[in-house]
Amino acid sequence: MTRTFVCHAADVPANGMKQCETKGGLRLLVAHSGEQYYAYQAICPHQDVPLCEGLYDGSVLTCHQHLWQWDIKTGAALGLAEAPLEYFEVKLEDGAIYIVPPNALKMAELFAGINGQTLEGIIAIARREEYDEGTTLYRVGDPVEDLYVLESGRVNFVIGREDRTTPAGFMLRKGEVFGWAALLDNQPQRIAAATCLEKSSLLRVNGREVLKLLEADPASAFAVMRRLAALVTRYLAASGAK
Ligand code: FES
Repeated sequence: MTRTFVCHAADVPANGMKQCETKGGLRLLVAHSGEQYYAYQAICPHQDVPLCEGLYDGSVLTCHQHLWQWDIKTGAALGLAEAPLEYFEVKLEDGAIYIVPPNALKMAELFAGINGQTLEGIIAIARREEYDEGTTLYRVGDPVEDLYVLESGRVNFVIGREDRTTPAGFMLRKGEVFGWAALLDNQPQRIAAATCLEKSSLLRVNGREVLKLLEADPASAFAVMRRLAALVTRYLAASGAK
């Protein structure tokens, strides 16, 4: 997995923060909280003000200019803030802090904004699998068990009914969830087909296990189900399925 060196952990004060720049010129704010390091955009999302000039108490970051605030563990907007911070996934290795490409589940629109612990639970049960070009992941009518998130590569997704499918499919983007029938009640068979158009890396998660995690967190479950309804409607409308 590609990783980019940011700084040495020793350079960041305990429960403090520091602005760093990668070799490629990416400026980041690195913050320490408890046992963890977090990396965010270096500049306030409101105006051109470096966040390292702000106030940080070890859990909440405040921009000194207009007092926008963020939760350092998630980058979520607090109080007056009107936008979250752009988050970078951090890896700590041998005392060095790197940023790594985010887990595709964290980019998935379907799970955006859900409770961090619930999302980590879903990430923990996901399996990464690689498929060759031309692999059919499932066909209309196949039994439903897992849902998928595209990590890299290209997948064509075609909505269908019985043995028919719509002529044109959808090219899925990185972070897009498909196979979402695994989250629907009374839907034991696939209603779409999915095929890899090139070598693709996917995260694969058992639908029943995801539902169990969501049942324990009704607020996140409600958010996911609302997005799922919108997603299904969007695909059905765009495919012309009746
Ligand atoms: S510039 Fe940061 S809150 Fe306005």
